[in-house]
Amino acid sequence: MDIITFKDFYNNTVQLSFSDHPFSDTPKHVWCLCKFKDQWLLTEHPRRGIEFPGGKVEPGETADEAAVREVFEETGGRVSDLKYIGQYFVDGKGGKIIKNIYVATVDKILLKHRYFETNGPVLMSELPEDISMDKAFSFMMKDQVLKESMKYALQHSLA
Ligand code: GTP
Repeated sequence: MDIITFKDFYNNTVQLSFSDHPFSDTPKHVWCLCKFKDQWLLTEHPRRGIEFPGGKVEPGETADEAAVREVFEETGGRVSDLKYIGQYFVDGKGGKIIKNIYVATVDKILLKHRYFETNGPVLMSELPEDISMDKAFSFMMKDQVLKESMKYALQHSLA
């Protein structure tokens, strides 16, 4: 099992792997690289900034179900296809978390009056070259999880 280890934006240690659920079969967090037609679909978090949608798995829900729900709540996007690609483990000051990474295809975006915990959808044809210094983007977009996931998705023709 190949694990990539690095520090995140807050200097917490992150372990990342593109194998099948290396850290937990029942992770409590999910994150979705979201595509809508030929664009990336992200969301704007009021404090953290622009990020791909995701969040916590609720009691009685599978991680895959949480991914579909979070994409809809945060962007209004209806997921038509969901592919698990990997998982990461963050050993953070605020606790340890394990997150599934998905590539989600959205076929329709419903415009809503209110979005759960976000300011709604953000569409981008391309992500900026250097997000790490860009204040508009969330810390979640600023470590190797994004870079490696994008690389994996491209190599596997998922993006
Ligand atoms: P809320 O309960 O939603 O307000 O979030 P929280 O920040 O209290 O808790 P959560 O369990 O979502 O995350 C706990 C800590 O883990 C965060 O403060 C981050 O330091 C870290 N964390 C969460 N998600 C990520 C992520 O995607 N990447 C990285 N590098 N760290 C993360």
